[in-house]
Amino acid sequence: MLKEKYTTEIADILSRYPVKRSALLPLLYLAQREQGYVSEAAMQEIAGILKLTPPQVYETVTFYTMLNLKPLGKFHLQVCKSLMCALVGSDILIGWLEKKLGIKAGETTHDGLFTISKVECLGACGTGPMMQVNDDYYERLTEEKVDRILADLKRDGTSALKTGPFMWPEPAPAKRGA
Ligand code: FES
Repeated sequence: MLKEKYTTEIADILSRYPVKRSALLPLLYLAQREQGYVSEAAMQEIAGILKLTPPQVYETVTFYTMLNLKPLGKFHLQVCKSLMCALVGSDILIGWLEKKLGIKAGETTHDGLFTISKVECLGACGTGPMMQVNDDYYERLTEEKVDRILADLKRDGTSALKTGPFMWPEPAPAKRGA
């Protein structure tokens, strides 16, 4: 149960939002950080905390591609397929990853290491094609760079080719005197 394990963190998140339901995304992120995805049990628990219905929580989880509904590989390769990245070859990049890993987008390798997803714009439109691996961005990708990144991830769990972290929006600052 999130409420038992993260009592203080949840109280802190809730204190930052005068309207309780506004804390939905930070709580979903907390659930995903805990399990790697947002389980049905977590959605129900969060619905209870925020006095929402489970479908209201579910529709938010399914709207944002950065929230996962099922367990993924150790490395989640999220390739942007939106217009600017498509113009500079994101489809070639996805095809290359599929060929190298022997899976299709939406699938996980048998060893549980890699999941490929096609996602919408990740806000790095000027430096495509790009992908997010777990919490890290990799930009201006080529087939050679992708080969190196995959090898680095397998060997070291990270790669020096990363260009920066994905930033979850910070909760709004607590209201003075709240
Ligand atoms: S279009 Fe790919 S990051 Fe925006």
